[in-house]
Amino acid sequence: MKTNYWSVDKNVDKEESYSQIQQAADLLRKNEVVAFPTETVYGLGGNAKEDSAISKIFAAKGRPSDNPLIIHIAKREQLDELVEKVPATAEKLMDAFWPGPLTIIFEKKNGVLSELATAGLSTVGIRMPNHPVALQIIEQSSLPIAAPSANRSGKPSPTKAIHVKEDLDTYIAGIVDGGSTGVGVESTVVDCTDEKVMILRPGGITKEQLESVVGEVKVDQALTDTEIKPKSPGMKYTHYAPNAPLFLVDGSKEKIQLLIEEEKQKGHRVGVLTTKENKAFYRADFVYACGKRLDLSTVAAELYDGLRSFDHQQVDIIFGEMFPTEGVGQAVMNRLMKAASHQVIK
Ligand code: TXA
Ligand code: MG
Repeated sequence: MKTNYWSVDKNVDKEESYSQIQQAADLLRKNEVVAFPTETVYGLGGNAKEDSAISKIFAAKGRPSDNPLIIHIAKREQLDELVEKVPATAEKLMDAFWPGPLTIIFEKKNGVLSELATAGLSTVGIRMPNHPVALQIIEQSSLPIAAPSANRSGKPSPTKAIHVKEDLDTYIAGIVDGGSTGVGVESTVVDCTDEKVMILRPGGITKEQLESVVGEVKVDQALTDTEIKPKSPGMKYTHYAPNAPLFLVDGSKEKIQLLIEEEKQKGHRVGVLTTKENKAFYRADFVYACGKRLDLSTVAAELYDGLRSFDHQQVDIIFGEMFPTEGVGQAVMNRLMKAASHQVIK
């Protein structure tokens, strides 16, 4: 299939962008699938009411069918068609964080959404993205739009249109390029169907931010204990992994340099995932500086581009620094641990 490619200005009011967004929305209405930017990562959108569109999403991604998709809406009014009830906690969280990187799990209204999109569950995850291009596309389509991250399953999520092209060119009907996404890690997924709000996937909205609105928030135990089955189906899959094995190092940069030397002596090409502060210190075959350690939001923004860049450098092994799990650091470390298959050198 030929993949249409549009480059749009973030300022979607411009006449030129408007017609391109219209074309993307038309394809969605025809049950084709189109990738577009959100404030977190690029999403691969499809008509959430239509099995044929949802099948195309799963096929293009190579995604296991038991992993439900997040449904994206542009207006609060769209919610009532999709869910049974809106708990008071969810109402507060929507007021505080929508549009934004927060996905809320609700009890779903039966018979509205494609069963494939929700993987046959009785619940549905919904979010309103904070990106003018995403909001315009959803609004123009007049549909709820199912949109997982627009990567091949298992790969790091795309934060640039070129990442989507690398993974999905010729598999999907279109890519809307709106530049780099911003937040860089996916939305936080919270379950609001119980009295106490629970984080199922850490992401762009931090635990601290949630607690400032609804009080104490629980965290799915499976996030820290790999023996427990996660409540969010997607969290059980390995993800984000570069082709070469990644080892996180719980130690100093001197320790990391020693590990690099050892590998070099074996004739291996070695990569390092670090930050701007430490980049100049390392002597390795490829060093990627992912944001500034002193501002973890900049690390989140560049994390996936960093993980993907090692594949282009043909390294044999990668060593990565670790980060504090405060604020958005919780999401960063969650993704890094998955990318490293939990391999940590102490
Ligand atoms: O930032 C994001 O959320 C991006 C952008 C494109 O919006 N989307 C995204 O979708 O990350 P995806 O499909 O890559 O991840 C969706 C996650 C999976 O872990 C899935 O299992 C979980 O949300 N999820 C979806 N519906 C759920 C439900 N009803 N109950 C529990 N977890 C659910
Ligand atoms: Mg994903």
